[in-house]
Amino acid sequence: MRQTLLLLSAAAALATAGACSRGDAPAAATPAAKPEAAMPAADPAQDEFSYAEPGKVKTTDLALDLAIDFAKKEIAGTATYTLDWVDPKANQLVLDTRDLAISKAEAVGADGQYEPLHFALAAADPLLGSKLTIDVPERNTTVRVAYRTSPDASGLQWLAPSMTEGKRQPFMFSQSQQIHARSWVPLQDTTQVRFTYKAHVTAPKDTMVLMSADNDPKAARDGDYSFTMPQKIPSYLMAIAAGDLVFRPISDRSGVWAEPAMADKAQKEFEDTEKMIRTAEGLYGPYRWGRYDILVLPPSFPYGGMENPRLTFATPTVIVGDKSLVSLVAHELAHSWSGNLVTFATSRDAWLNEGITSYVENRIVEALYGKDQADMESAIARGELKDEFTDANKALQPLVVKPGDLDDPDNNLTGTVYTKGAWFMQFLEERFGRADFDAFLRGYFDHFAFQSITTAQFREYAVANLLEKHPGKVTQAEFDAWLHEPGVPATAPQVKSQRFAVVDAARIAWTGTGKLPVPQLTAAWSTQEWVRFLEGMPETLTPEQMAALDAAYHFTGTANGELAQRWYPLAVRSGYHAADGEMAAFMARVGRRKLIMPIYNALVKTPEGLAFAKDVFERAKPGYHPITTGSVAAAIAGAEKQGGKAPAGNAP
Ligand code: BES
Ligand code: ZN
Repeated sequence: MRQTLLLLSAAAALATAGACSRGDAPAAATPAAKPEAAMPAADPAQDEFSYAEPGKVKTTDLALDLAIDFAKKEIAGTATYTLDWVDPKANQLVLDTRDLAISKAEAVGADGQYEPLHFALAAADPLLGSKLTIDVPERNTTVRVAYRTSPDASGLQWLAPSMTEGKRQPFMFSQSQQIHARSWVPLQDTTQVRFTYKAHVTAPKDTMVLMSADNDPKAARDGDYSFTMPQKIPSYLMAIAAGDLVFRPISDRSGVWAEPAMADKAQKEFEDTEKMIRTAEGLYGPYRWGRYDILVLPPSFPYGGMENPRLTFATPTVIVGDKSLVSLVAHELAHSWSGNLVTFATSRDAWLNEGITSYVENRIVEALYGKDQADMESAIARGELKDEFTDANKALQPLVVKPGDLDDPDNNLTGTVYTKGAWFMQFLEERFGRADFDAFLRGYFDHFAFQSITTAQFREYAVANLLEKHPGKVTQAEFDAWLHEPGVPATAPQVKSQRFAVVDAARIAWTGTGKLPVPQLTAAWSTQEWVRFLEGMPETLTPEQMAALDAAYHFTGTANGELAQRWYPLAVRSGYHAADGEMAAFMARVGRRKLIMPIYNALVKTPEGLAFAKDVFERAKPGYHPITTGSVAAAIAGAEKQGGKAPAGNAP
């Protein structure tokens, strides 16, 4: 359950309503027109979430010159595009923007000087933002836009010092995937355009700035930074962060950046990162991005991790002391092949990123931590997937979503995309055998390296290089059922976890006899076993049963978010109010959607819970990321519409 389906219906809450231009557009700008819809999405290769027209002109390089202003919560400066005019008749550059103030557009003319260009910023569409159309009659190769961001930019979070670990310096970070890069850089915000980038960024002295680029572990902290990203990337991989950050090495090419108080813990937790890189390289060929560093963000980071190239962004909630949640690093690292190297062409093909990555993640976990661990992780994900499939959401169950069926690409972290996608890969692996399937995937990453592709292209490549190369193993009908049918095909291989059988037996014994599993047994349980123990509980327990569990295992107040996201909803459903205080504290401290949405969703099902949720949200909101705020607001609004009864839905 990567993403609440409840969110799918109320996605617009996130889209900031704000006016696009803030009254400072120069005379050259035409007044805001009414929002224009993006191209109709009939063509499966069309990106319905971008105004850009990559068939006409493509950005090949982006040069940023930016200043970070914490007091104003603003990034301001210029973006300079190197353009490839693909269509000989094209003479307009269309960029995506959201809540940006655009003050100037210019082009380098024949004499080498910048000359002003006419531009028009359309009124904002709630989901897509404002289309920026720049007239470039001379089809110049170099165009520059001057702009500044809004304090409410959907892709940035600005944290006051009090919201950081160290409480001394402010912090800011971006989250561009899926369509939020446009809120901090005007650009062609579609995976169908790839570009190299350079950036010059200034910030208050003593603030470290990092980007999804060539961060130097030894860079002087002087408030003036330069970055280069020499590989071509799509816009959603643009990333920036600034704060009191220090570096700790893991290997020659990898390390962690974190606030000083977290740095040693993070270095220890993620010490296997180099081994993970080597495992992935052994399977799929050289890591092509230079360094691989991990940035540990404050707990308000709305996701678990984000595969920003060369600098994975990670939630601190996976740092639990025993490496039991480091599959997150395996996952984000795996995106260096599936996602960052070979990228989906439209959000409807998201499984090409997340499904293949979840499969590779599991292979890395298996190689490093053993098959038991890998199987437990698959079994948990697959259990969640089954819960997520309902008759009401059949349209989102095929791996390939039909044009128009996805209303907001932020709400695409579904079990389908992740778990069914990974399951499909495991099915192919089992049918073709590891040796042939590994060779196929490696060839696939090489063949489509630095390109964005559709599922149709994946299918064509797989038919030629897998199905027809090794005939008699998988039919095209079997292959296509995974792509286009709802649910999970009958051909799906099952995982059996011996360790979970033990956990299940212990739980059943307890619910039957009241006898808790002996400490000799539970002492060796990892996060996954505790997750299984809780997930298999009946819908509700008696407050006495909850108290007995709490006395024995101290779930209330746990620092482990995977346990918290399961324990607190059970407490809510069971009317176990002894957990209320710690639960509210957890909801206010952590902004990771996947961990807190199950709690909100459980709360809003009753009028009393809804009141509690609203109260916590009011207090927590100033510390939440815009993405999290949008999700929580949507859950509350949905419940209020139903008079305290939440619509059916799953956890994120
Ligand atoms: N790329 C995703 C995060 C994402 C997806 C952001 C879609 C916005 C839209 C990232 O790689 C991811 O999958 N993160 C997971 C963690 C992972 C271990 C499954 C998450 O944040 O839960
Ligand atoms: Zn991912």
